[in-house]
Amino acid sequence: MADAQPLLQVKGLTRRFGGLLAVSALDMSVHRGEILGLIGPNGAGKSTTFAMMAGAIEPTAGEMYFEGQSLNGLPTHAFAARGIVRTFQHNKPFDSMSLQENVMVGMHSQVPLSLWQVVLGTAKARAFEKHVHEKALHWIDFVGLGEYAKADVHTLSFGQGRLLEIARGLAAQPKLMLFDEPAAGLTATECLRLADIIRGIAAQGIAVLLIEHDMAFLMALAHRVVVLNFGGKIAEGSPAQVQAEPAVVAAYLGQLKVPHA
Ligand SMILES: Nc1ncnc2c1ncn2[C@@H]1O[C@H](COP(=O)(O)OP(=O)(O)O)[C@@H](O)[C@H]1O
Ligand SMILES: [Mg+2]
Repeated sequence: MADAQPLLQVKGLTRRFGGLLAVSALDMSVHRGEILGLIGPNGAGKSTTFAMMAGAIEPTAGEMYFEGQSLNGLPTHAFAARGIVRTFQHNKPFDSMSLQENVMVGMHSQVPLSLWQVVLGTAKARAFEKHVHEKALHWIDFVGLGEYAKADVHTLSFGQGRLLEIARGLAAQPKLMLFDEPAAGLTATECLRLADIIRGIAAQGIAVLLIEHDMAFLMALAHRVVVLNFGGKIAEGSPAQVQAEPAVVAAYLGQLKVPHA
């Protein structure tokens, strides 16, 4: 797990909203193939941290390095182009499209063709089209929705919609996936499926950063956990280590039950 260079490294990452310090001098790193849990009570700064890592909001201070290169000051689309993909709590599929079409939309940025190659229907354009169809099907299969590939997205259940969102994210060829509460609203059976999918993603060498309220789900899945409270890091280590930290137990008192190691 501890390869020489982290995939993502943040140093002194800080974000203010007016007088509020949402994230405060955060140092952390994520490695390829690692499932890293990011936990903390409501308002601790988890989603704000994700928003900065995805390039959706700018840090007030601090540095972020991805594959050793600075992300500072880059536009949002550059974060995605480098391989950082965030999936959302509330999935928003495109209306009146099949699952496959929905996933293909996420692949538009990979088009290696000129407009003329597309317009003229060249062999290269046809080959790329075939590649896009196959890749989309591959990721739909990967999340277990293969039999619904041609179905309209409206026919999906809430939980299936969440899985489709993950397939869309994977089609963008991420190196790092940010999951903000992916288990929220899922049934127990769907949570098990989701856990398998996340393990399968990490097994391919993709780094997974996971925010999750369901502690049993997160602790069973994460290789390592970072704990935030009031924007600052209060603990870091294996699931067993952080659950045994008095500061972590205290931060969660009255909020959530933390299963003791
Ligand atoms: N866009 C915003 N404008 C003002 N305050 C914000 C904004 N986003 C988050 N906050 C505040 O920053 C703090 C951290 O929020 P957030 O990162 O969403 O926490 P978490 O995801 O850990 O629950 C909270 O106090 C929240 O109210
Ligand atoms: Mg949040």
